[in-house]
Formats: sequence, structure tokens, C-alpha cells
Amino acid sequence: MDTSIIRFENVSQIYDGAGPVLNDVSFELEKGKFYTLLGPSGCGKTTILRLIAGFITPTKGDVYIEGKKVNNIPANERQVNTVFQDYALFPHLNVFENVAFGLRIKKLKKAEVERRVKEALEFVNLKGYENREISEMSGGQRQRVAIARAIVNDPEVILLDEPLSALDLKLRTEMQYELRELQQRLGKTFIFVTHDQEEALAMSDEIFVMKAGEIQQSGTPMDIYDEPINRFVADFIGESNIVAGEMIEDYRVRFANKEFECVDQGLNPNEQVEIVIRPEDLEITSVSQGKMAVTVDTQLFRGVHFEISTIDEVGNEWLVHSTKKAEVGSLIGLDFDPEAIHVMRLNESEEAFDARLESYGAEADEK
Ligand SMILES: Nc1ncnc2c1ncn2[C@@H]1O[C@H](COP(=O)(O)OP(=O)(O)O)[C@@H](O)[C@H]1O
Ligand SMILES: [Mg+2]
Repeated sequence: MDTSIIRFENVSQIYDGAGPVLNDVSFELEKGKFYTLLGPSGCGKTTILRLIAGFITPTKGDVYIEGKKVNNIPANERQVNTVFQDYALFPHLNVFENVAFGLRIKKLKKAEVERRVKEALEFVNLKGYENREISEMSGGQRQRVAIARAIVNDPEVILLDEPLSALDLKLRTEMQYELRELQQRLGKTFIFVTHDQEEALAMSDEIFVMKAGEIQQSGTPMDIYDEPINRFVADFIGESNIVAGEMIEDYRVRFANKEFECVDQGLNPNEQVEIVIRPEDLEITSVSQGKMAVTVDTQLFRGVHFEISTIDEVGNEWLVHSTKKAEVGSLIGLDFDPEAIHVMRLNESEEAFDARLESYGAEADEK
């Protein structure tokens, strides 16, 4: 069975005389998964959704839906619906009519419209709200009306453009669970856009990290968190310590004026690299027991942990998340496992990176 639902082949998008907003983007999405496009404002996330929805046609390259090239297929003939950032609900229509709008345009029979709108509203837990005005609905409820309106057409793909960004933190977290659960019940493909890395990590089967019109890295949340391909991804996906280093040989790396055992291999001897260690992977010890001695610069209490900023002997900053306190100005030790060290090549392509990761996997299987 063909599981591919959306495919981009070398897609570039130029809106006007300015440079490309998307630059030679290729990817393939499978049916029934929750995908997230993650990246800073202006990197091209909405443009990708508009290309899938059919609101714009690509300047270069091809867009496929279920194996069929759709560059010139109009939006209303695609099995795709969008939930917009501002919901774009009709303020003068009640909840029922907002959800029914698209079905009425399609001139479906009255009984059919009623059945499908009811079903969609039940799906988003809004049974009984049919006659409410939009102005009487809370932010979270409006959100659910917008989702009901998207699913009532029974599309194969649902596009969600930063749908949670207008909600307060508590409601946003609730809606994250709700959306994820809804996607699993529907079994449809969701493509969700956000600039919030925690949201992306919590919700997605697969994340595409974007920067300036290009996909930097794609993979499961754990892949991307644990093995960021470059400084941008490491930095964007969570708080990280990123310092310059040098690969000495396979499984040995040098940084902060010391040599350490690591799990990376397949790089060139003496290759200049960047090292990532997550703050939660650093453990505070006595100076003699640590792998590295650092001076405590500042300390903040963050509720669950202390956020401790430290400086090593060559001036690198190391942020530590710890349940232990440290004394500002004191010299402490830091311990970490070889697995906590992530070695990043400078300017490695995603393909080369994947090939290198696979070769570790093969080696680990042999052991
Ligand atoms: N209709 C348009 N005409 C010209 N430039 C546009 C248009 N839409 C978006 N852009 C530009 O394209 C870039 C990417 O926009 P967009 O895809 O909306 O990014 P994102 O959703 O990631 O914030 C931005 O620099 C934006 O200013
Ligand atoms: Mg956008």
C-alpha cells in the first residue's frame, strides 16, 4: 500500500523580486501522522501550508498529494482543510452555521449537513453548543469550532497554522493534548505549524526544523533533541551548551582544554567540530570527582531545578540544571556520560548526517 500523502519535489517559492522564501525544499509525508513545521517567524512555514492547501502555486518544483501532481489543482478540489491562526470564524453566524458553511456551499442535502455538523461538533466536545453565537464562545471553544469546521469535510490532511498561539499557557497545554488525541482518533494526517519548540516536542510524530526557507533537519522529537544536526537546531530545540571542539580520533574528542571519551565516530582526525551537552546532562560533583572544573557564575531557582551558569578554564559557559545548589563564586566539578556529548560537524548535510548515524547503529548492532 502506498503510504505517502504529501510530497514536495525541489519546491522553491518566490513572491516578488526578493529572494526565495522557500529554497529547493523536498520532503515526503506519510498518511495518518502528526507532523510539525517548527522554525522562527518568517522562515516559510505558512508558505508550505499555502502550497499544500493550493492557495499558491510553486514558483519552481512540484507538489504531490497522494501521488498526484497538484500544482494546478485549485484549493477546493484538494482533500485538505486549514485551521487558521486567527480561526477566521464568521462572527455573524452561530456555531452550527460556521461548521456547516462549507457543506452548504457544496449543496449537500439538509439532513446530511445536520448529521455531519453534529458529528464534527461531538468530535471536538461541543455537543449542545450548536446555537451559540461565536462572540459567546471562549478562546478554547472558538479553537474547537475552527477544528470542527476543518474536519467536517472529512479531509485527508488537516493543516493547522499556529492555532494555539493566541491561547494562554494553561489552555494551550490542554489543547495540545486535545489536538494530539483528536488526530489519533481521526487517523488523518495533521500538519501543525509552531515556533514553540516545547509544543513541537510534545505533540509530533515527526518534526521539520526550518530556517530561512530551508529544512534543517527532520526526525522524531527524540532524534532531533538527542542528535541535533547543527548549532541552529541544537539552539532552537532547547537550552544547550554549545562549544568549539576537536575530534582527536574515533570516540575521543577535545574541548575545554581536555580530552573526553565520546560515542561519535566516522569524523576525520583533528576535525574541528561543535560540541553540545544539554544542561540536564551535567551533574555537579566535587572538583576531584568531576571531569571538568568550573566556576559558578550565577544561580537561579526555577521551581523544579536550579539553573546554574558556570565558566570553564578557557572561558566557555556551561549551563547546568540541577536539583543541587551551588555557591556562586566557588569552584565545582561537572560530571557527564560519554553519551551526553553530542558532536556536530560544521556544515554537514542532513543526508550525510543520517548516513553517519546509521553507521553507528550498524556498529552498535555488531557489539
Ligand atoms: N504574499 C507575500 N508577498 C511577499 N512576501 C511574502 C508573502 N507572504 C509571505 N512573504 C514573506 O515570506 C517569508 C516567509 O513567510 P511565511 O511563510 O509566512 O513565514 P512563517 O509562517 O514561517 O512566519 C517572510 O519573509 C514573509 O515576509
Ligand atoms: Mg506563519
